Amino acid sequence: MGLGFYDSEKGVSEYIRLAEGYDGTELITWLGDYLPENSSVLEIGMGPGKDLDILLQKYEATGSDFSRVFIERYLQTHPNGDILELDAITLDTSRRFDAIYSNKVLQHLSMDECRKSLVAQHGLLNEGGIVLHALWYGTDFEEMEGLCFQQYTKKSFSRLLENRFELLEAKTYTEMKKDDSIVFFLKRLNIS
Ligand SMILES: C[S@@+](CC[C@H](N)C(=O)[O-])C[C@H]1O[C@@H](n2cnc3c(N)ncnc32)[C@H](O)[C@@H]1O
Repeated sequence: MGLGFYDSEKGVSEYIRLAEGYDGTELITWLGDYLPENSSVLEIGMGPGKDLDILLQKYEATGSDFSRVFIERYLQTHPNGDILELDAITLDTSRRFDAIYSNKVLQHLSMDECRKSLVAQHGLLNEGGIVLHALWYGTDFEEMEGLCFQQYTKKSFSRLLENRFELLEAKTYTEMKKDDSIVFFLKRLNIS
């Protein structure tokens, strides 16, 4: 799936308008049950960076996105921000982190791309690393404005983990409609 919607000034402005009033405060509170303060965290698909700013209150957080438009807008207001331009599928960086965080990002990948992303995530996590991915809950797949929207359940997401991650917790939560979302907490396993 190409950059399209998220790499145009118009798409980014539209996203910021639609996302007004939403952020990952609750998710980041839950992350605190698994991840000690001051740990290093990579956010994938940071978009406007609202969650990155919340993560930075507790963690050494690094933002990333594959959209230059989101990155440049964030850097205009945070010129010293630690930001990487990364595609979620390949995560091509030599940096290593204690945790990975994404809020409503991996639904834009096909299930096979999401499995590849989890292989790449395993590669850039320190031993025992923690992962949080928030996604739309369900079994539907849709394409809109050239973007994929793949929903997940505990069962469909678990299939992608193979032997790389232990599923610590999966819980549904409410973003716009009751139980429309699901968050997964994973722990990196050593593989021989
Ligand atoms: C629904 S928005 C969520 C943005 C932000 N996490 C939030 O909660 O507001 C999806 C984000 O994922 C990014 N994204 C989509 N596909 C991506 C990919 N393959 N690699 C990296 N980022 C991607 C988009 O640029 C956009 O910032």
